[in-house]
Amino acid sequence: MRIAISTGGGDAPGLNAVIRAATLSALDRGWSVLGIKRGYAGLLGEDEVVELTADAVRGIAHLGGTILRTTNRGNPFAFPVQQKDGSWKEIDRSDEIIANAKSHGIEAMIAIGGDGSLAIAQRLVEKGVRIVGVPKTIDNDVAGTVTTFGFDTAVQTAIEAIDKLHTTAESHDRVMVLEVMGRDAGFIALHSGVSGTADVVLIPEIPWKIEHVCEAVMERDRRGRKFAIIVIAEGAKDESGSSSLIGKSLPGQDRRVGGVAQRLATIIQEKTGKECRSMVLGHLQRGGMPTGYDRLLATRFGGAAAQAVADGKWGHMVALQTPNIVTVPIKEALQTPKRVDPAHDVVQTARAIGISFGD
Ligand code: F6P
Repeated sequence: MRIAISTGGGDAPGLNAVIRAATLSALDRGWSVLGIKRGYAGLLGEDEVVELTADAVRGIAHLGGTILRTTNRGNPFAFPVQQKDGSWKEIDRSDEIIANAKSHGIEAMIAIGGDGSLAIAQRLVEKGVRIVGVPKTIDNDVAGTVTTFGFDTAVQTAIEAIDKLHTTAESHDRVMVLEVMGRDAGFIALHSGVSGTADVVLIPEIPWKIEHVCEAVMERDRRGRKFAIIVIAEGAKDESGSSSLIGKSLPGQDRRVGGVAQRLATIIQEKTGKECRSMVLGHLQRGGMPTGYDRLLATRFGGAAAQAVADGKWGHMVALQTPNIVTVPIKEALQTPKRVDPAHDVVQTARAIGISFGD
């Protein structure tokens, strides 16, 4: 058996641990393993396909990023191609991928990715490609699994930032607004905000009003707590009900969200007279060593993915359904994106201990 492994979409800490575990588990079964570089680009003649041996995956479990590299512009069904006049056109190159996979002797693939990459995997499965998925994203927004690997590391990074912001905020009696990633999901903001004991947490799932946010800040002020920490998810809607967009996406890329912290800080300063500063944590959340939790989860996912290939679970992804690793149909997992449930105990407890959601 010859299998191939690919990593697609934004990177997440733990990718290398999955690659290592899946490769070693496959080699253990006597299979050979190829690594497709940069999503599916390695099968489109734009990058290489490399052999993954035990040596090739040695000493990588603790490293961030992905040794196979990745891209969020690699959808083979809508591949951006620049035209002679400079404009961009999206073309379907999926048949090329299938033909090239065959020419490399690839019999099955392990696709490690978030909702976008898993949706691509599902479409390829429908065209007859034998694929098993592994859910990855720091956003934790893939349903069917209790958590994705990368999330715990991102939350840890955000907590460390909140801890540091606390000391400078308190010294200056300032309001610090920290913007964290998560796209349309508020998991990173919620988990880091509660663990880091923020005063206000703003997430896309709970619409908020600026008056309530300012009131939370001023109420603290009246109690003698002159500083405040606000954690806001990059996709949290602003007063007008729209999320902030930042920069420009390249052809073939999703819209980019962000910039909401700066706007919020400006408004709070205007309305309360308190000195405000904002900070965007950004890609720091995606980089660096995976936490022990993510390393173990990623390793379990890698081993389970090889097992799923052995079992012929095409169109399934591995998932954590505590305490077990199971497989679930990718189609089912993608039906409804996972979002923070406003009735969840984390939200309820946060409210009970005095955290405002601005609602
Ligand atoms: O989906 C993961 C994520 O990090 C989001 O939280 C964020 O909005 C996006 O990717 C950023 O992607 P890019 O790599 O295009 O900056």
